[in-house]
Amino acid sequence: MRTASGLTWSISVLAVVAIVGVTSLTGQTPATGPVFTAQQAEAGKQHYDTTCSPCHGSDLGGADAPALAGPDFAKAWGTQTTADLFKYAQGMPPGGTPLPDDDNLAVVAYLLQQNGAAAGATPLLPTTAVKISGIATGKRPPMAMAVAHRR
Ligand code: HEC
Repeated sequence: MRTASGLTWSISVLAVVAIVGVTSLTGQTPATGPVFTAQQAEAGKQHYDTTCSPCHGSDLGGADAPALAGPDFAKAWGTQTTADLFKYAQGMPPGGTPLPDDDNLAVVAYLLQQNGAAAGATPLLPTTAVKISGIATGKRPPMAMAVAHRR
């Protein structure tokens, strides 16, 4: 009896290990998956160009305000989450009226895209809290991708 239950126990341990292994292989951990859609990034570009670019530069390279793409952005935001960035953006422009949440999420999606994060099927939400260095490669997308063409 002892050996039988010992065997059963070993089999269950093996099963658990197998399930955990398969889960990580199939990438069901959403921690680094795409967290915004291309539509959000595209809408975000429009809002960015109108509301943010006067201070942060039309190429996000910074002007009267810090750069929002490239190494400076990675340094300032890499260890923080997408939710942190969204909350911070709600305080922008300084002393001005923040964008409505949906537009603000779109701008955050655009910033992530411009820092190399890939778009996918899941829309960015205020509650999406993924570490930015986990999705942003730091590589700006080529211009053709930066401006998603949709008419
Ligand atoms: C009137 C000028 C102005 C406008 C418009 C503006 N910002 Fe800013 N932004 C600033 C300044 C100045 C800072 C630096 C604040 C500080 O260091 O305390 C900043 C900082 C930031 C940061 C942090 C950068 C870093 O390196 O930590 C983010 C993110 C940001 N702004 C996003 C936005 C977004 C998104 C918009 C448009 C919705 C926007 N800003 C519009 C002036 C502006």
